[in-house]
Amino acid sequence: MSAALWVVLFWVLFVVVSHHLHTPIAPRVGQPGRLEDLERYAPLVPQDLPLYNITVAICAPRIGCALPRIADDDAGPWVRVDRPLSGPTARRLGMWNGRGRPSYGRFVFYRRALRPDSARIVDVRAATPEKRPIGPEWRRLREVLVPQRAHHASVHLYVREAPAGAPDVGVTELSVHYGHHTPLHGFVSAGTVVSAHRLHSSRVKVTLLMRHGLGPQVPRPTLRFRADGTFKILQIADLHFSVLEEPCRDVADRQTCQSHNHTMARIEQWLDTERPDLVAFTGDQWNGQGTSWDERSSTPIWIEPLVRRKIPWIPVFGNHDSDSGFFSRTEQMQFLAQLPYSLAQVGPSSLHGVGNYEVPVYAATNNTEAWTLWALDSGANAPSSLWRPWQSALYDWIRDDQIEWMLRKMRAKPVARRGGRAARPPAAPRHL
Ligand SMILES: *[C@@H]1O[C@H](CO)[C@@H](O)[C@H](O)[C@H]1NC(C)=O
Ligand SMILES: *[C@@H]1O[C@H](CO)[C@@H](O)[C@H](O)[C@H]1NC(C)=O
Ligand SMILES: *[C@@H]1O[C@H](CO)[C@@H](O)[C@H](O)[C@H]1NC(C)=O
Repeated sequence: MSAALWVVLFWVLFVVVSHHLHTPIAPRVGQPGRLEDLERYAPLVPQDLPLYNITVAICAPRIGCALPRIADDDAGPWVRVDRPLSGPTARRLGMWNGRGRPSYGRFVFYRRALRPDSARIVDVRAATPEKRPIGPEWRRLREVLVPQRAHHASVHLYVREAPAGAPDVGVTELSVHYGHHTPLHGFVSAGTVVSAHRLHSSRVKVTLLMRHGLGPQVPRPTLRFRADGTFKILQIADLHFSVLEEPCRDVADRQTCQSHNHTMARIEQWLDTERPDLVAFTGDQWNGQGTSWDERSSTPIWIEPLVRRKIPWIPVFGNHDSDSGFFSRTEQMQFLAQLPYSLAQVGPSSLHGVGNYEVPVYAATNNTEAWTLWALDSGANAPSSLWRPWQSALYDWIRDDQIEWMLRKMRAKPVARRGGRAARPPAAPRHL
């Protein structure tokens, strides 16, 4: 048998054997629940079970992830932080085409302790040996975060642990963030994994994020008219934000313009002068077009100014939102619904589109629903014609089933007395 054949045979055997040894951990989406959350990665679900082990493993197609064996029953299974540490290099190599879940490369994994007061990790750092945290309480993990490459030192993970019963608040979540801007609400940096200049052609900084304890708890807001009978909505459309700054368009000075900063400076000004009761993002929040490949990294840019001012917000999708990204449209809406001050909902799966939902606005002084806001998904691209499949499709539209659902729900609302006459909360034009 030729050497090449041996190599092929060995590779096939290796793939078959290792497939049985390592079952890749698929992230699942479900309802918050502590024990179920032991084995799924859901970084925005409140969680007080601290991390017990952290490791770094390489995942390969079909083979799965090379994880250390578990030798104790004190913690749950390995859970993958679902962003590759190499960031967009995986994209450049064609392993990640900007759509769907990247599953190859180097990933961080953790195991959760089974009890909040058990032995736990209380601090984490990603650092080069030169910049490592100093002190006997820090332990360097055996697995390298980023191996040494020409002119670049290796990056390691350092952890600080506390024994069972100690008062220190444990680290309860990790995340990987791409770009320079604000991280997810409740998370802080645990160190730089890849500095921006390292991948000079893509300029992407990769940061390890961590959260301590449950993180900030923001109750879902209730909308109410003001005492003077007004309710102000600021509508923002077409932010087209990406993980990296896009070149500014239609401005006098393109040299000094920074798209994220300039756009957000204007929006912050509107928020302060108009003081809206609600912000409605009406589509194309994400740029699509191959550049908004990590919603978790790019969304905090436009959400943070609202969170800081405690302003509720609702989103609907445009055609570009699901052009490129890590999440499906349903996962995108689930993600937006988990963010602070959001009133987003995924809506009924039986309807066309994702994110068909209603938001009640109550009277100023009692719980009468005085007004109803309806969010309807107008889709992305229209299905191409059965008869002319070569013709490029135009934009999608709001379907009859969505409108019928809205009318059905409107008619079912209780009639209230309003200024001496009986009425249902208004929303749609009269002819509907
Ligand atoms: C997990 O953490 C415990 C406690 O620090 C340690 O004894 C054990 O070796 C770790 N296991 C792995 C696989 O890292
Ligand atoms: C954008 O503005 C923030 C603060 O307003 C600043 O810290 C940051 O450096 C700016 N970004 C760039 C790329 O200059
Ligand atoms: C609730 O408040 C509204 C507006 O202030 C008022 O018109 C309405 O009569 C009130 N309804 C009840 C049941 O008190």
